[in-house]
Amino acid sequence: MSEQSQSNLKLENNFQSKFHSNIQSKILSVASFLPSNVVTNFDLEKIMDTTNEWILQRTGISERRWVTGDESTSDLAYSASIKAIENAHIDKKDIDMILLATLSPDHEFPGTACFLQGKLKLSGIPAIDIRQQCSGFIYALSMADLYIKSGRYKNILIVGAEIHSQGLDKSTDGRDVSVLFGDGAGAVILTANEVKNKDTDSHILSTHIHADGQFAKELWLPAPGSAMGREGRITNVHLLEKLQYPRMNGKAVFTHAVRRMIESLDECCNCNNVKLQDIDLFLFHQANLRIVESISQRLELPSSKVFNTVQKFANTTAATIPIGMDYAIQENKLQRGMLVALSTFGSGFTWGSALIRY
Ligand code: UT7
Repeated sequence: MSEQSQSNLKLENNFQSKFHSNIQSKILSVASFLPSNVVTNFDLEKIMDTTNEWILQRTGISERRWVTGDESTSDLAYSASIKAIENAHIDKKDIDMILLATLSPDHEFPGTACFLQGKLKLSGIPAIDIRQQCSGFIYALSMADLYIKSGRYKNILIVGAEIHSQGLDKSTDGRDVSVLFGDGAGAVILTANEVKNKDTDSHILSTHIHADGQFAKELWLPAPGSAMGREGRITNVHLLEKLQYPRMNGKAVFTHAVRRMIESLDECCNCNNVKLQDIDLFLFHQANLRIVESISQRLELPSSKVFNTVQKFANTTAATIPIGMDYAIQENKLQRGMLVALSTFGSGFTWGSALIRY
């Protein structure tokens, strides 16, 4: 039996006996990494026909981070992961699985989780890419939570990482999309934890994930892809038609985002018999401040309980929720013992939520 199989068996024996016991998933640490290069709305005015006023008024975004060098998504993921491992005070060899959510992979294949794993030098453990766009982190959290509760694994590294800036149409043609997105990464270590008091001990209460592929082309990147025809995944014709850039029906995405994030929160509350008023902090996907404001108004959430980063970092898709958690911790808005609701929506359409006793 290989060393890896032996260690897997040991893990199973250690934890299988606790299946259906009080083993829950706890967020042991959170970290993020943002490129240092700040791109303001005024910088964008110089390269396309847009204005600071339009971007601020329609989205609430003032600036975003865009990489300047040859960094790849797995580089950003690596920087966030190393910080999360340090913050968790564990040996990186104690990590049993890597889940990485991204829509901007290093390459078509293999998955970016494999590139990250190579950089972390963690050979042997499973490394999986989650391709659920803005909802990727909550999908990954949901999977990790179930792997831990089943007793299969003890420590799981979950990362959301994106480099959008290299893949946007930065001419006026692409202004409706390109002003919205930023680069960044966030990481979390999820660990198995015996919970004695469910009202106070740190754990994930529930996760909820959904998709509706009817709307797959409302926000998508056509090429390269196997559906692009017999001439090839990406041809000169595709390039002339700018099919290598994301396309979005902004109004449809906006409407569905508000509806689905409200539904997801409702699902979280009903599942746990919790009222919105019991929740201490709300972290919504950060695509547009108007989306969050619309949800907050409809649900009458006090602004002091809603944490936003979109103004400074724009939409970092799969990285948004862990980046938000990290900054909320740094600003003392997220503290141990708090009840936190995460809710997200993105391309696919995909959406989901999680309720966490942090
Ligand atoms: O993670 C999920 C990802 N995405 C989202 O959640 C995005 C959801 N949608 C949105 O946030 C909004 O729909 C946008 C911010 C994308 C657009 O806001 P809107 O209020 O729906 O604007 P619009 O699409 O109605 O566009 C209004 C005008 C158009 O001009 P005309 O046709 O009225 O002359 C656009 O061409 O604004 C124009 N426009 C811009 N003008 C200046 C579009 N982008 C820009 C821009 N600068 N960057």
